[in-house]
Amino acid sequence: MIYILDTADLEAIKHCNEYYPLAGVTTNPTIISKEKADFWDLLKEIRNIIGYDKMLHVQTVQKKAEKIVEEAKLLKKELGGNFYIKIPISEEGLKATMEIKRQKLDIGVTITAIFTPAQALIAAKAGADFVAPYVNRLDNILGDGINVVEEIVCQLSKYNMDCQVVAASFKNVEQVHKCAAAGCHSATVTADVLENIVNHPMTSISIEGFEKDWASVYGDKTILDL
Ligand code: G3P
Repeated sequence: MIYILDTADLEAIKHCNEYYPLAGVTTNPTIISKEKADFWDLLKEIRNIIGYDKMLHVQTVQKKAEKIVEEAKLLKKELGGNFYIKIPISEEGLKATMEIKRQKLDIGVTITAIFTPAQALIAAKAGADFVAPYVNRLDNILGDGINVVEEIVCQLSKYNMDCQVVAASFKNVEQVHKCAAAGCHSATVTADVLENIVNHPMTSISIEGFEKDWASVYGDKTILDL
């Protein structure tokens, strides 16, 4: 299971990149628009923070395959490193994926806005490196996001596809946990969800107990002072 951060908020990226075992950052046009920043400055700063080894996923805003490929090449040239073009599932998106792979451009492809296992399988067949099912958006329409993720994981494994699932659109820790239990390869989450994975009231109570008991004997000294 790998964790990816789903935001373009530079402060959140700085923080989470320092404190969490992040594999990279994912964005989409909605996430980028929220920052109201210069597009290239923002993306280059994200690359600067996470470095060239971690994944950076950026979504195309083109609709036609040829233009998607052109945009992917420009993004890779400007942002470099471990780069993935995110392409919403569509006929044009599949065509663009096959073309990017045919040209061996060293550009990863994440087919996004996946809502069914059938979409995921055909995206994998076209050459997608990742498929991104939207868990919470499925849950919102009684679509059982976790079950969809589980079916996708099973199908990719059954057909021995060289494609991983990056589950997306999470609103809570339970959804992330259930995806992990279903064998999902990765999850892209907001900083809030990431922090909630770590925090637990019983953990806080336990830590308070350790601190109180230590202080009763050693006062405010730490091991470094003894
Ligand atoms: O990156 C796409 C996905 O994470 C969307 O999430 O919260 O807009 O459903 P959300």
